[in-house]
Order: sequence, then C-alpha cells, then structure tokens
Amino acid sequence: MQVKNICCIGAGYVGGPTMAVIAQKCPDIDVTVVDINEQRISQWNASDLDTLPIYEPGLKEVVSQARGRNLFFSTDVDAAIAAADMIFISVNTPTKTYGKGKNMAADLKFVELCARQIARVATSDKIVVEKSTLPVRTAQAIKSVLSETGNGVEFQILSNPEFLAEGTAISDLLRPDRILIGGETSEKGEEAIQALVDVYARWVPKENILTTNVWSSELSKLVANAFLAQRVSSINAISELCEATGADVREVSKAIGMDSRIGPKFLQASVGFGGSCFQKDILNLVYIAKTFGLAEVADYWEQVILMNDHQKSRFATKILETLYNTVSGKKIAILGWAFKKDTNDTRESAAIYVADELLEERASIAVYDPKVKEERVFADLNYLESRSAEENKELVEVQNDPYEACKDAHAVAILTEWDEFKSYDWQAIYDNMLKPACVFDGRAILDRAQLEKIGFKYYCIGN
Ligand code: UDX
Ligand code: ADP
Repeated sequence: MQVKNICCIGAGYVGGPTMAVIAQKCPDIDVTVVDINEQRISQWNASDLDTLPIYEPGLKEVVSQARGRNLFFSTDVDAAIAAADMIFISVNTPTKTYGKGKNMAADLKFVELCARQIARVATSDKIVVEKSTLPVRTAQAIKSVLSETGNGVEFQILSNPEFLAEGTAISDLLRPDRILIGGETSEKGEEAIQALVDVYARWVPKENILTTNVWSSELSKLVANAFLAQRVSSINAISELCEATGADVREVSKAIGMDSRIGPKFLQASVGFGGSCFQKDILNLVYIAKTFGLAEVADYWEQVILMNDHQKSRFATKILETLYNTVSGKKIAILGWAFKKDTNDTRESAAIYVADELLEERASIAVYDPKVKEERVFADLNYLESRSAEENKELVEVQNDPYEACKDAHAVAILTEWDEFKSYDWQAIYDNMLKPACVFDGRAILDRAQLEKIGFKYYCIGN
C-alpha cells in the first residue's frame, strides 16, 4: 500500500518538525498537522516564519519549502482524520498528576481522546502510528478503543517512537541513527509496517530502519531515554566528587569518553537534565517495573532521578552558601531558562527549580534567555504553586538584555549552555555588579582563568 495522505494529531515539538521533514522529503504525500490549540495552528500558519510556535535551528527553512505545497496546519481534526490513510498520534503524554500512578505513570487521556476521535470519524481503513512516548502496551489500548468503538473499518497500529532531541531536531530527523517501527506480525501488520518503511526509505538508508514487535519498540524508547539520562546523572554524581577532591569533571569526561566502549557523548556535567522526556520516561519505566513487582529494577532507575534532583538542589544551596547564607533581597541574574541550548522549550528545565529554591529564600531574580518569553517564565514559576503569582511578579523580572539582567546583581547563574554566553563582555558585566561578584556556572561552559582574572568569584559545576 502506498501512503498518499498523512494526518498528524498534535502540532508540538515532535509533531511539527517531524511532519515538516516528512512533507519536505515526500512531495507526493499530503501531510496535515492538526491541533486543538488554535493559537498554535495560527502560529504555524503565520507568514512571518520567525514566529513559529517552536524554535529549532533549520526548521523555518523546511517549513517554508513545504508549507502550502503539501504541508498544512489546521484545527479541523475530523476532516484531516477522514482524509488520511495514515494517522500519527503526537499529542502530549505528561506524568499523571492524580489518581493511580500519580507522579509516575504517563497520563494517557490525550492519547485515548485521539483514539476515540479517530474511531468516531474514520470511514475507511487506517494505519495509526504512535509517535508520542508511551508506556509499553499502549498500542494494545489504542487498538481496543479503535476496534470496539469504530465503524467496522480496519485499523493497524504501529509504534514509531521519535528519537529527535530538541535543538537538533531537524538534523536528527534528516539523518537519524535509526528509525524504529514496531508492528504486528500478521500479514496486515507487515503491510502496515512496510507502508511506513517506504515513507522513511525516501531519505533514510534501509539498514537504518529497524522493525520489531510493538512492545519492543515502545519499550526501546523508554530505555533509550533512561540510558541517556543515566549517563548525565552518572557524570553529575562524579561532578560532586570532583568538587570535593579537586579533580575537574571536564577532564574526567574527556578521559573516560576517549574509551571507545564508553564514548564521548552525554558526559557533559550540568545543573541537571531537563526536558519533557527524561524524567517522564524514567518515572514511567519505574512505574512499569513496580507494577510487575520488580522492586530492585524500579529502585535502580529511580536513582537516576534522585541524583538529578540532588544536583539541582545542591547547585541552589551552593549559591546560597556562597552568598553568606542569605540571598534575601539580593539580586541574582539567571542566564538561560530553556532546558538546553537552541530551543525555547522550558519543560522540566533545571532553571525553574533552582530559581524556585532561591525565591523561597526571598532572592530577587532577573532572568535572561535568548529564546524564552516572559510569559513562559512566569507560567513555569506559577505552575509550581510555591508562591502566589503576585509574589512571583514582585520577586522576578525578565530582561531582554543580558547586561541589564546582571546589572547590580550579586551573582550570575548560568543555567543553560547557550553559546552566546561565552562571548559576552564579562568585564563590562563585572563592572556593573555588586562586589564580591560571583558567577555560578551550572553548565561548565565559561573560562575560569578569564573570569577569575577579571575579579569574579567563580564556581563551576564539577570543578
Ligand atoms: C531526549 C533524547 O535525547 C531524545 O532522543 C528523545 O527523543 C527525547 O528526549 P531532549 O530532551 O530533547 O531529547 O534533549 P537531550 O539533548 O537529550 O537533553 C536532555 C537534557 O539533558 C538537557 O537538559 C541537557 O542539557 C541535559 N544533558 C544532556 C546534560 O546535562 N549533559 C549531557 O551531556 C547531555
Ligand atoms: P510534544 O513535545 O510531545 O510534541 P507538545 O505539548 O509540544 O508535546 O505538543 C502536543 C500537542 O498536542 C499540543 O499542541 C496539544 O494542543 C495537542 N493535543 C493534545 N490533545 C489533542 C487532541 N485530542 N487533538 C488535537 N491536538 C491535541
């Protein structure tokens, strides 16, 4: 079967870029991305490509090539479902905040709503592809909703987890390490798998397209993220040991990363990993392990998150202790609010938690991030419910100019590894700060010798 019309439900960080690349690479396939969020869709359709709802290097070029040709963004979910022969589900699957599995299991309500909507609207056979990160055996649940509530049409369910990382989404999509497609082993299942293989095979070498059973595919996504996060927690654990002993974690990372069995990637010590996936997926893995009575497996993986929480908290404590155990009324500049560089996404960003701890100490905070908007910063802080929105407004300012953010501050905390921070005029920043002026480098990106020469008290994670 040849796919001619794709619909993707969910125009977020995964759905938007993924569909833009599929549309660019498959000009003969119509790709419609739908979302219930009208504002998001109108931003995707805006003529000014600088106002796309998500920031990703290279994204606007891909969108500008395909949009209007065979890439469409719409709020008419029913129409797109009806017209499609392949439907990607790319909606958000946050950690549950209520009921059974609270704070651990993935909340599947958005996925289930999509499945019900597909079942209601579809009048011809469809291939339904899970793109969101989902717990193992979700495909089974989707299948049951579709077959029990549908109009008698046939559905094939595939799992096709997305491995793109934000900030490098477009290059990850264009040159993926692998494409993973899980499906049923029946004849119809294999046909569906082949249809999706044929889409990717337009630009991905066949040997990089891996097909598995559905559950292996679903589990692999959780495990890949758990392994990556584990590397970050491992190096972060060592960063604390380095600080206690006088070793430099950057040197240790380099030394161990040159062992080809370990490899150099994901060994950058930080104030803690963030993003929408790592914590959520590990919690999910822990929950699944617990559900099957595998206590040791659950505890093992949970430790990755506990280490991450510890890292964020000890960074905030370091700031507090260095500033003579009181930051009340002191201005602290936070450079970087996104969870990593080259994205405007702030979900689970370490900056939110570090800021929160400082605000609990009544610090006043000035935030600068090259891509994050003021509303987002306040939304993130208000969401924690540690303080009222009014209190946050009183204690926090968001600046468009980094120099202004640092002016009259006692300390600057680097919480995202944006490249531009390295090329700032640190002498000018120093001159306008209160003394002793401190820099807390939570990403280990600045040059200690240069900053200390200027006069800064410099603290670097892992050194
Ligand atoms: C991750 C996975 O990499 C991707 O395959 C999956 O599809 C989604 O989850 P993402 O969360 O977008 O991608 O970014 P990633 O580059 O993995 O970074 C996650 C967090 O770890 C960031 O906060 C980053 O700053 C941090 N990190 C990463 C480190 O602190 N040190 C490192 O060495 C690498
Ligand atoms: P991700 O990082 O997984 O892409 P996002 O939160 O960025 O997550 O995007 C998910 C998108 O899915 C949101 O824009 C949300 O409005 C959309 N969405 C959630 N449920 C539905 C639904 N039932 N129908 C259409 N869109 C949905």
